[in-house]
Amino acid sequence: MNEAQWWRDAVVYQVYPRSFADADGDGIGDLRGVVDRVPYLADLGVDAVWLSPFYPSALADGGYDIDDHRAVDPRLGTLDDVDALVASLAEHGMRLVVDIVPNHTSDRHVWFREALASPPGSPARARYHFRDGRGASGELPPADWRSGFGGLMWTRTPDGQWYLHIHAAEQPDLNWANEEVRQDFLTTLAFWADRGVAGFRIDVAHLLAKDLPEDLPAEVELAAAAPGRHPFIDRDEVHDVYAEWRALFDRYSPPRTAVAEAWVPAERRGRYACATGLGQAFNFDLLTSNWDAEEFAAVIRRNLELAEQSGSSSTWVLSNHDVVRHTSRYGLPQGTPDDPQLGRQWLLARGRTPRLDAALGERRARAATLLLLALPGSTYLYQGEELGLHEVPDLPDEDRQDPTFLRSDGADAGRDGCRVPLPWTRSSASFGFGAGGAHLPQPAWFGEHSVGAQRADPSSTLHLYRRALRLRRELRVDHEPASVRWHPAPPGVLHLARGGGWHCLTTFSAPAPAPRGTVVLASAPLADDGRVPPGVTVWFRQG
Ligand code: NOJ
Repeated sequence: MNEAQWWRDAVVYQVYPRSFADADGDGIGDLRGVVDRVPYLADLGVDAVWLSPFYPSALADGGYDIDDHRAVDPRLGTLDDVDALVASLAEHGMRLVVDIVPNHTSDRHVWFREALASPPGSPARARYHFRDGRGASGELPPADWRSGFGGLMWTRTPDGQWYLHIHAAEQPDLNWANEEVRQDFLTTLAFWADRGVAGFRIDVAHLLAKDLPEDLPAEVELAAAAPGRHPFIDRDEVHDVYAEWRALFDRYSPPRTAVAEAWVPAERRGRYACATGLGQAFNFDLLTSNWDAEEFAAVIRRNLELAEQSGSSSTWVLSNHDVVRHTSRYGLPQGTPDDPQLGRQWLLARGRTPRLDAALGERRARAATLLLLALPGSTYLYQGEELGLHEVPDLPDEDRQDPTFLRSDGADAGRDGCRVPLPWTRSSASFGFGAGGAHLPQPAWFGEHSVGAQRADPSSTLHLYRRALRLRRELRVDHEPASVRWHPAPPGVLHLARGGGWHCLTTFSAPAPAPRGTVVLASAPLADDGRVPPGVTVWFRQG
């Protein structure tokens, strides 16, 4: 595959920097911490690192509330550290992808402060979405829309106007019909591309374009809007923005890449993923799938078809910083109401003994990873999944940081449980995260999942990931979406061939006969007679 196409089958490792490694011992992970661990990432065998926001931020939303997109949070480091990270990754054959958050700024951004200091109708307010309220003296919000983070999507300013924020109040939405906003983001993208950043992950890429009529529809009407006609979700004109960005990306050699975080129906994903747009879009369908052979098969088939149609490559994701870690999701009882796939039900039950089968979750998570890594397309891994880390469900309320917890008065436990700082060593104060403490408390069981403990155990999840990533490089023959050949398999089992005699078989709910070929890797031991028990993926070769 040529240099410009590196992203098509890349394995990208997501670093949530404040929780990865803390070099200066202040309890918050930093860029030097990431630089120090580049050899670890190289040894793991990933192709690129996606760094979640490291920009100055009050952390009202874990760094997704950005004060200045072209600077580094001083608690995390300096621009020189970014350069050092790019250089060190390159030395080890890896690339850097950074997060861009174009839908909103923080309320501390110079533009928003200027907007608050300026009168209604001023150019400074036109960079955001300000509105007068309803009611005799504008005391009612312009619409009853509720934020997914809890509370209203509108907040009133001291002079009586209201501003729109789809997320937290500290994240005012930008007005993408404003030329200055558009130009400024082109400057930001070039700023990072010029520093050697290889690609961008675009936060809520489906929300930028807005058409907010004089009479705003009520919340119930929003829910009924047809795809492309919603006032702020997945509007067609958002692609004009990405066409402009693509022109900028293509001026670089190799062209800069971008992946859309767009929670849109599968059939609309190609608009983001096409070559004239961002080029790739996250496929989150497995995040909402149960551990079920038919569900997985349907998602895989559908997404390979979609990748083929859009000319992009598919993306496979099991975990990220927004969802309950999949090791835990797969250990929860299935088929219960309340969104069990994302484990929300379990999160809501935090503090009580969760009905979690930890060993089952780990077994299935290992099997799922081997299945994903056998597929064409790129795979996004989330820090800690290579350690088989579980969600931390029982953080004390006073330690929780996520606005979804704070804005829902604790009704939603939020996402802190997947953001607890990584354990690097079996013991020591913060399990080797840093010389100081950790900004979210780590549970005692982190020790046995630490990098140190897993290195010493050849059957560990860390070793499985390392072996799988090496073999994936050696074995891969064809990464075209259409290259997968499905083989007949008993119910509850998936079997696919990848060319060159390479096969992948996953037993979801039923055992399978011994594979006919040489087993090159298995996510768990096979039976003495070679049969594959449930909850295992085997890679084997024929001929
Ligand atoms: C998606 C990010 O992944 C999430 O962490 C963040 O809270 C929202 N976008 C808002 O930026």
